[in-house]
Amino acid sequence: MAELRIINDKIDFRGKNVLVRIDADVIIDKNGNVEPGGEFRLFGSEKTIKFLVKKGARVILMSHLGRPNGVTESLRMTPIAKRLSEYLHLPINCLKEITGPDVKNVVSDMKNGNIVFLENLRFDDREEKNDSAFAQELASMGQIYINESFATAHREHASVVAITEFLPSYAGYLFAQEVEVLREVLRNPKRPVLAAISGAKIETKASLLKNLLPQVDYLLTGGGVANMFIQAKGLRIGSSISEPSMLDFVKELLRDFPNKIFVPTDVKVLREEQDGKKSIMILNSESVEDSDAIYDIGPQTSEIYANIISLSKTCIWNGPMGKIELPDFQEGTKKLAKAMLASGVYVVVGGGDTVAALRKMNLLTGFGHVSTGGGAMVAFLQGEKLPAVDALTY
Ligand code: 3PG
Ligand code: MG
Repeated sequence: MAELRIINDKIDFRGKNVLVRIDADVIIDKNGNVEPGGEFRLFGSEKTIKFLVKKGARVILMSHLGRPNGVTESLRMTPIAKRLSEYLHLPINCLKEITGPDVKNVVSDMKNGNIVFLENLRFDDREEKNDSAFAQELASMGQIYINESFATAHREHASVVAITEFLPSYAGYLFAQEVEVLREVLRNPKRPVLAAISGAKIETKASLLKNLLPQVDYLLTGGGVANMFIQAKGLRIGSSISEPSMLDFVKELLRDFPNKIFVPTDVKVLREEQDGKKSIMILNSESVEDSDAIYDIGPQTSEIYANIISLSKTCIWNGPMGKIELPDFQEGTKKLAKAMLASGVYVVVGGGDTVAALRKMNLLTGFGHVSTGGGAMVAFLQGEKLPAVDALTY
């Protein structure tokens, strides 16, 4: 079994420049501050950073933010470094560049225990190209590399893959924990295992459903994923989101796993009449009309799902049950979370939106493992090889 190289006590960090790739890809609000729901991801690197500082390392933090095309003022690292510094109660010197002579000067003046934060890695288009020369420029500033960014483990980018060619490289504590938990949940879960899969981006969930269905005992569906199954049963979904190109695939899943898949029996819709009048109502899934958009699961479905949860020992959850950015459609997601917390089932939950929403609803404490990965967690669970994990594996 391939082993991950993990940060540990035996490594001599004292006086060394340690490059630490974290995932600081959070949402910045209109006032330029870090949006609280998503902060959890940023704070995930706490243990590794504090460990390194205590060990007398000189810590060079680096991350991407968003998907910029060249230098973009609204995607600078400044607010992130400020928020992280407040949270850790440690000073962080945020730089305006990624590499170059000025950065090198600052880095060479660092004292043991100092922290600097480089500018957004994606301001340089070589990052996403896994460019060797860019990786080497980064690597030349340090003696050791730590990857603490599980959320980008599915990306073949310079700061998570190419850089490992140039420095002794290790997974940080959070990264290692993510890999371990997700491996265990696939390989060795306590049964019955339930997967709750939903969300708006249905096409991104196809391989996940295909890989998980043979392995789990139950599948609860919500959001756009549920719409597809409702449609596959021959029912109307009105103006709800769906992905027509996936309908045949979803029908096949229903045929192959008829007893595992649970589809909402009732839904909460936003009805928009021709005169523009809008109303919210709960309908039996068979009674959805053309003027309806399904935005949440209904109360009966929530109860059925809570029952299935109480029968399960392990639960893998990705994606909110409804359109949770609208307060009227948060109930299904809330009830699902509460049922999981009440039943004591071991829950592995992930997905940027789901986690941010749960945090806002104060429902994030009590889950077995909250993954910082969105796409990375999905890629892992659908059986893909993650380039950044491979790069740190013996
Ligand atoms: C994420 O948001 O899941 C990670 O930060 C990766 O971001 P990306 O999808 O822009 O590569
Ligand atoms: Mg992202």
